[in-house]
Amino acid sequence: MNKLTNGRSPAFRAVITGHGSFAPSKLLTNDDLAEMVDTSDEWITSRTGIKVRHITTDTESTALLATEAARKALSVAKLDAGDIELIIVATITPEMVFPSTASFVQRALKAKKAWVFDLAAACSGFVYGLSIVQQFIESGRLKNAVVIGAETLTKITDWTDRSSCILFGDGAGAVVLERSEDGRKGILYSTMHSDGNRWEALNCQAYGSRYPVSKQLDDPKKVYMQIKGREVYQQAIRRIVETVNDCLSACNFSIDDVRMLVSHQMNARIIESAAKRLNLPDEKVFININEYGNTSAASVPIAFDECVRNGKIKRGDIVILVAFGAGLTWGANLIEF
Ligand code: ACO
Repeated sequence: MNKLTNGRSPAFRAVITGHGSFAPSKLLTNDDLAEMVDTSDEWITSRTGIKVRHITTDTESTALLATEAARKALSVAKLDAGDIELIIVATITPEMVFPSTASFVQRALKAKKAWVFDLAAACSGFVYGLSIVQQFIESGRLKNAVVIGAETLTKITDWTDRSSCILFGDGAGAVVLERSEDGRKGILYSTMHSDGNRWEALNCQAYGSRYPVSKQLDDPKKVYMQIKGREVYQQAIRRIVETVNDCLSACNFSIDDVRMLVSHQMNARIIESAAKRLNLPDEKVFININEYGNTSAASVPIAFDECVRNGKIKRGDIVILVAFGAGLTWGANLIEF
């Protein structure tokens, strides 16, 4: 557990100065899925809130999505790629085993000054990334960084498993964080957690060192994502509520101070149940899973970008970004935008 509290007076503050997102143009609807497995638009919509998801073609990869999202965020921030100091790509569907997806993004952006790495914390990867950059900027070590969440989950989806294949989509979102120069406070607080004992709830087991490509798999399904939906469902609600309450109490805020909750989009019913327990009205809870499905690490930055572009989040608003995913991992950032 790693808490960065608002009680300290950091030398510098980390503010979000740019945001962007990108999704592949190819769409997969619930009706399309109903032709592939025994399911229906009615079942998927009522259980998850998902109507359609964006999916990559064979020639589209994670680094490409990440680069496009980063370009948009840099353009909003008016930051030259040559001045970027750090690039983090949060992903569980990297470009290759190695080098990192971030290396390909650096190359595409010509961000020669940056040091770069990938962060594997599944759906929590983006909020973890913000927490890391918060520390580097607050300490004075860095003046800026780009954090990207990018996924091509449909490349590790079992299209014969109706309980999982309906959930996932592809996309990327990015933000530019910079040292505050104008008194804006930016990230006020971050709280991050993990529970490795529950790794079996969500995983994709091949091809790492336990199940290398050189060894025959005992179960060919190990190349795909496997989920225990019920367990994830219950844990997700509990951890989102806990983490948001932690943010509020650490910063002496009440739920009324929050302008928008931007949650990882894993299931509309999970987000709605958590919001109800937090007494958050519908207009303060952003949901766009209907258009994207679950895009893991990309979902929070895609949702954040959409909120800012649509005027749902404005300068000075208090916003909570919260995520929960495989590991298990979960965490949140409380931000004054
Ligand atoms: N269409 C029709 N019926 C289905 C489908 C489907 N696509 N999928 C499952 N069913 C059936 C099951 O077979 C079961 O039938 P039975 O009662 O005859 O056995 C019935 O529906 C209920 O199945 P459950 O799995 O209990 O359904 P549940 O209401 O829990 O919904 C869901 C499943 C949507 C996956 C839910 O558990 C969920 O959203 N979980 C959390 C989300 C999640 O796991 N996300 C993955 C995160 S991983 C990551 O982000 C990288």
